[in-house]
Amino acid sequence: MSIIKEIESIILEAEEALSKAQSEEELDTNKNNFIGKKGKLTQVLKGLASLSVEEKKTVGKLANEAQVKIESIVESKRNKIKEEFYEVKLKSEFFDVLRTEEPKEKGSLHPISQIQYEIEDIFTSMGFSIMDGPEVETDENNFGALNFTEDHPARDMQDTFYTKDGNLLRTHTSAIQVRALRNLKPPFRIIAPGRVFRYEEVDASHENTFYQVEGMVVGEGISIAHLIYTMETLLSRVFRKEVKTRLRPGYFPFVEPGFELDINCLVCEGKGCSVCKQSGWLELLPCGLVHPNVLSHAGLDPKKWSGFAFGLGLDRLVMMRYNIHDIRYFQSGNLRFLKQF
Ligand code: PHE
Repeated sequence: MSIIKEIESIILEAEEALSKAQSEEELDTNKNNFIGKKGKLTQVLKGLASLSVEEKKTVGKLANEAQVKIESIVESKRNKIKEEFYEVKLKSEFFDVLRTEEPKEKGSLHPISQIQYEIEDIFTSMGFSIMDGPEVETDENNFGALNFTEDHPARDMQDTFYTKDGNLLRTHTSAIQVRALRNLKPPFRIIAPGRVFRYEEVDASHENTFYQVEGMVVGEGISIAHLIYTMETLLSRVFRKEVKTRLRPGYFPFVEPGFELDINCLVCEGKGCSVCKQSGWLELLPCGLVHPNVLSHAGLDPKKWSGFAFGLGLDRLVMMRYNIHDIRYFQSGNLRFLKQF
């Protein structure tokens, strides 16, 4: 019976074609080609009319089976194609929700900030408080109240940037001494770190912008001994070894007597080397006892109150600690320089 053979070969053909289908569309086209309204199986069944009743039964059963078989092949293939599709999609869109971020490059504190915070810690441990003041100051706070009279030649010691409204960029943190005297009731001990400005030609050892820490102690019976003790404690802790100091006379209008404090050279320990120019000493910081005029200007009786003050240059301190030879690095923003600290 050739019609049976035809159905069998349609099944084989369908199996073959469906196994090659790559997409759902291809599957549907093939399905139509075999069991759709104009499909091959449907065509073959048109020949059924000429058969006997018995034959119709046999062929009809076979055709049904063929239809079911092809449909089931189509569906299982459809599932397979879907599965593959999602597998590829999942693989390509995979991301790990638990993965932590790649570590970013971190910034770090500028070496001047580092030493500033260290110094703040040392002084707060000795009972000092930390004060702040503005970078734009009045002439009165930066000079007048510090015993620089109008025509005082010492004004020329510090070339000044003036603002258009008659103020100035503070040339030293000593301006904060004036604020402390005005706002605090003695006895008090303060330090005041800050950025200061001078109209200077910039070179390896001069900057127009640099950093100081001002210190001021006012009380009854404050003497040079207190000053020396405080400075030696500070410096031994900053340099992490015992530091010897000496005082030389130095002039600043707001201290009397005024000093330059030297430390024994840390490189040769006082024996004499090229760093200390064979002297065994390094000039480190200016200081002195608060001038009576400064006290009385602030309304304090110099017979009752006395005090000491000092001005620590942070740039020089960092240069000494790390053997840096050019002050310009500090303001340069040079990352290769900054990453070393
Ligand atoms: N303010 C002075 C300067 O910058 C330093 C100084 C501070 C001197 C405190 C004496 C006392 O040059």
